[in-house]
Order: sequence, then C-alpha cells, then structure tokens
Amino acid sequence: MAELVRFGVSLEKELVEKYDKHIQKNNYPNRSKAIGDLIREELIREEWADNKIVAGSITLVFDHHKRELTNNLTNIQHDFHEIIISSQHIHLDHDNCFEIVVVKGKPNKLRQLCSKLKAEKGVKHASLCLATTGAEI
Ligand code: NI
Repeated sequence: MAELVRFGVSLEKELVEKYDKHIQKNNYPNRSKAIGDLIREELIREEWADNKIVAGSITLVFDHHKRELTNNLTNIQHDFHEIIISSQHIHLDHDNCFEIVVVKGKPNKLRQLCSKLKAEKGVKHASLCLATTGAEI
C-alpha cells in the first residue's frame, strides 16, 4: 500500500457540510477517499489535456440492417488497430447492434476514431469515455 500523508485543510464550514452530504449520498466511506478521488480526477483531466497515453472505451449503437455499415465500421477499426485493445459486439435486438471498443492511446487519436465511427450513416449513438491507464496516478 502507498505511504499515507496527513495534511490540514481549512475550508468554509458551509462548504464542508455540503460536501459531507455529497460524500454520504455517493456512498464514500470517508472524506479521505472522496478527496483523493477529486485529486485523481484533476490529474486524469491533465493527462487528457497533455495528450498522454490513456485508456478508454467507445460505445456504439447502430442499425444492423444498414447496407455496408458493419463492413465500414470494421474497416475504420482496422485503420486504428494500433489503439484498439479489444471489442465486443452484442446483438441488442432484431435491428440494433451494440459495440464496445476498448482503446488505449493519445486522447486526440481516440477522439478521432470515435468521430469517424460516429459519422457513418446508420450509427445511432457513439460516445467516447476517456479514462486513465492508472500508471501515473
Ligand atoms: Ni449485431
């Protein structure tokens, strides 16, 4: 386990009370875990801004019946094979497919892949969730 450091922070009483309510609502066991997560979120946002290597996922929902769409989506993914770790295809219902593409690379490249997939006709939803590799935080 990482070494722990204790430090004092002075904040307005009202702010702390509101934050304690927020912590409780979000099932945090204590302030330390909640504040640690806040700090980590900031550092992760910095990784995105600095275009560092991050992990993420792209979620797609698309029309199963659209001609050539599955082929086109596969071709785009082949063009970005170096940042794709894995993908999972789920047949949601008779008409719709759901795909999760797990990616790792520079945020700009991940965004580029997501927007290319999204631009294909028949894609009903495409969203990129940027995360972190966890290596530096
Ligand atoms: Ni399908």
